[in-house]
Amino acid sequence: MFPKLLAFSLCALAIAHTALATDSPSSQTPLSSDLNADAQNATVFSIIYGIPLTQYVVFANSIANKSGNVWTTNSIFHEKTLANASYHTTLLSNVDTLHSESLIDLSTRDLVATIPPLESGRFYVWPFYDVYGNNFCNLGTATNNSAGGTYRVTYRPAEPGCDMTPSDDYKGTIYMPTPYGAALLRIEVKNPADATYVGNSIQPGFTLTALPPNGVQLAPRLTEQLLNSGLSPRADLALYVMQLTARLAPFNLPEDGREIALVQANLRLAGASRGSYSQPSGVNLTLAFSTVKDVVHSVQVKKFESLGNGWAGLPSKLSGDFHDHYDVRAFVAFNGYMQLQASEALYPVYEITQTLLSNQTYRVEFFGKPQVDGFWSLTMYDANGYLVPNGLERFSLNSRDNMTYPGSGLVRDSAPDSKERFYMLLQSTSYDIAPEWQSNWLPSPAGSAPFNFILRFYGPKESLVNKEYQYPKVEKVAVNPPLPKAI
Ligand SMILES: *[C@@H]1O[C@H](CO)[C@@H](O)[C@H](O)[C@H]1NC(C)=O
Ligand SMILES: *[C@@H]1O[C@H](CO)[C@@H](O)[C@H](O)[C@H]1NC(C)=O
Ligand SMILES: *[C@@H]1O[C@H](CO)[C@@H](O)[C@H](O)[C@H]1NC(C)=O
Ligand SMILES: *[C@@H]1O[C@H](CO)[C@@H](O)[C@H](O)[C@H]1NC(C)=O
Ligand SMILES: *[C@@H]1O[C@H](CO)[C@@H](O)[C@H](O)[C@H]1NC(C)=O
Ligand SMILES: *[C@@H]1O[C@H](CO)[C@@H](O)[C@H](O)[C@H]1NC(C)=O
Ligand SMILES: *[C@@H]1O[C@H](CO)[C@@H](O)[C@H](O)[C@H]1NC(C)=O
Repeated sequence: MFPKLLAFSLCALAIAHTALATDSPSSQTPLSSDLNADAQNATVFSIIYGIPLTQYVVFANSIANKSGNVWTTNSIFHEKTLANASYHTTLLSNVDTLHSESLIDLSTRDLVATIPPLESGRFYVWPFYDVYGNNFCNLGTATNNSAGGTYRVTYRPAEPGCDMTPSDDYKGTIYMPTPYGAALLRIEVKNPADATYVGNSIQPGFTLTALPPNGVQLAPRLTEQLLNSGLSPRADLALYVMQLTARLAPFNLPEDGREIALVQANLRLAGASRGSYSQPSGVNLTLAFSTVKDVVHSVQVKKFESLGNGWAGLPSKLSGDFHDHYDVRAFVAFNGYMQLQASEALYPVYEITQTLLSNQTYRVEFFGKPQVDGFWSLTMYDANGYLVPNGLERFSLNSRDNMTYPGSGLVRDSAPDSKERFYMLLQSTSYDIAPEWQSNWLPSPAGSAPFNFILRFYGPKESLVNKEYQYPKVEKVAVNPPLPKAI
């Protein structure tokens, strides 16, 4: 079993308490004769297709809420603090980066994204998403190292992506596949004091501003009413998704243009037309939704790839930018909305197969440093996906920490390609940590409460994907084990 909360999210937007909590798989109810099988199938397709839109609404409303309940598009909201153990708004928060969020509406105008000149050695990525959560373009250190400059953000459904050809006054152009979208800047933060520095001195240099209207109306303006009014309660998720999809899909075409006819045919057959939804006769929404759940949950089993030593992740081509893989897109929407492309970040999860006795703990053996252009971390979560309270306020161990090698020396001081082994101890806060483990200790929950942990690689090199790098070995050992010998 993978952890129930799949955490390749890394991004802070695994949204708490989603309605698609895992439950027992639905029984395979045979289609009764009065069921319209085609419309039923089209409904299943449409719900899977539309699920990311529900998270888009949550994202949009949360920006408004953080901005003093003022609906805010085409601007940038800078988060100033890192999550800690009392932060329960989102699941699987990272403690590696500060976020800046934008809700994008290109219905009447283009935007300008500005990047300040940045000190070298500080990882950042400014991902742009379409309304379905596809990460179709990234500015940042890992892929497109930018010495600062301005970029035009415009709508072009035919060939979405980044074009770094300078034009007019811009260093490049970001071509969005849908008029509505989002951006979620992440800037590396080294420690809490550094978060203050980043908040005061780096974030403000990143801006998103609207150009004057260009005289064309591509879609209705992206308003609070458009995303929230006149829809069934979210608790009735299947109906809610169908209504929201009927409303937004006509103006927000699939990223892959070859899919337009198929998507539109399914939506029509499922009862979504002219902006609203009406349930066709012979369609059972309850049954459709249980089929959807089966499809979405099976992504974990069918699409994840083993990375060795019990670690697994989505293959690169199914990460961040989903094209016609709507099942994976829906799965990610619920488990780590606004995932990054694999070129920017990887989030391997560990498959926990055995429970620990109260006097046991996990020792994690790294076979050399993970190869990254940015940095890496391993973060601890309780069974709910929240950070674990502890006296050190230590929620992760990472490439910038003071971890030591078994012999001597700091892990962060060795050569970037060092193959020397080092170890972490994931041990409960109920035990005093042995002094020799102090710097390599990642506190796990008190008692023998269950937990999950996630690796995050920012700016991963090819060796982390092609299995050249041996993933860490996780072993059950007695509490406060002897330090391994240096190898
Ligand atoms: C409905 O979908 C299922 C699974 O995708 C497929 O096996 C079945 O043939 C489809 N039925 C119709 C009538 O299209
Ligand atoms: C703020 O959030 C609440 C739900 O938590 C929502 O009802 C409200 O509409 C939001 N405010 C705005 C301006 O969107
Ligand atoms: C946790 O974060 C909140 C919000 O940033 C802050 O008010 C609080 O002081 C933090 N708790 C600790 C123990 O630092
Ligand atoms: C980086 O820029 C190039 C153009 O120089 C573009 O083709 C590519 O899509 C960009 N990569 C990402 C991940 O945005
Ligand atoms: C719809 O499907 C559910 C789940 O399979 C079933 O319990 C229910 O009886 C069906 N409703 C109708 C009206 O057929
Ligand atoms: C750990 O606990 C188990 C069961 O409580 C016990 O059998 C075992 O001897 C303990 N091991 C150590 C090293 O204390
Ligand atoms: C690492 O050690 C230095 C020197 O003792 C200290 O200033 C710094 O805060 C430590 N860093 C972390 C992340 O613990």
